[in-house]
Amino acid sequence: MTIQWFPGHMTKARRQIEDKLKLIDVVIELLDARIPLSSRNPMVDEILKGKPRLVLLNKNDLADPKATAEWVQYFADQGLPAFPIDAATGTNVKEILPRVKQLWAHKIEAMLRKGINPRAIRALIVGIPNVGKSTLINQLAGKKIAATGDKPGVTKGQQWIKVGTEMDLLDTPGILWPKFEDQMVGMRLAATGAIKEELLHLDEIALFVIKYMVQHYGAGIQERFGVQDLPDDMDNIQEMVKVMEAIGRKRGCIVSGGKVDLDKTSLIIIRDLRAGKMGRISLEKPF
Ligand code: G4P
Repeated sequence: MTIQWFPGHMTKARRQIEDKLKLIDVVIELLDARIPLSSRNPMVDEILKGKPRLVLLNKNDLADPKATAEWVQYFADQGLPAFPIDAATGTNVKEILPRVKQLWAHKIEAMLRKGINPRAIRALIVGIPNVGKSTLINQLAGKKIAATGDKPGVTKGQQWIKVGTEMDLLDTPGILWPKFEDQMVGMRLAATGAIKEELLHLDEIALFVIKYMVQHYGAGIQERFGVQDLPDDMDNIQEMVKVMEAIGRKRGCIVSGGKVDLDKTSLIIIRDLRAGKMGRISLEKPF
């Protein structure tokens, strides 16, 4: 893998977040429902230091509902309220404000007891690049505010965004990188599109996807690509390549001499996975 992890980046983002945390009541941590742990910043617990937190499992339209339910339980067991959303369509987004209010209810009650009129709750959205922060902010604000699809490294202006009268939102200051120096984490991030596929070898990512699919979602491959004979031994690389070749042949990825174009086949597999065309797939499970 060619991605480098620079501790300096993390230190800078950490300082920027710690600076803003003083202004924040509740943190909304956005994760990718298909890979909740791999799409998490490795130092997030340390950085957030016990701030009230709501975990949102985004892109649930693409994730396996059974795995998502298990992840919700996994986070609940750690004392973190969590639930799935689709920021793109707005599914469950209306649930966010009441859940944030629950986390801050004790403070509001205390203010009311003292005769103070409670101000809007100040929430910070944190998440790795591409997890859907801008999309969610736009949904919550009910208009297009944050630029979606921005490349990591492009600084967005800091601004408070009003969600009705009851919540003010701030986007992640600085970039919270995932733990992509871990090979498996890198594969999951590349497969789901959180990092650019050019950073890894396409066929490596596709093989990773096929192996995982054969293991957990064999029917998805059979239905999408019409490949009936799936191998029993997932660790046999030649068997896995045979599956890829069968997919390539079905999809017409043939070069001169009748050989299968594995790069083209790999791209098809990765794009189909990301678009949900093989069904709703989670690439990481808690138990
Ligand atoms: P960021 O601010 O955290 O970096 O993420 P952003 O909102 O820009 O979203 C990244 C991509 O993820 C966008 O696609 C966006 O449409 C997509 N996305 C966000 N929420 C959801 C969701 O709930 N479901 C699905 N299926 N997609 C979602 P994009 O602009 O087309 O970028 P890309 O797909 O080319 O990376």
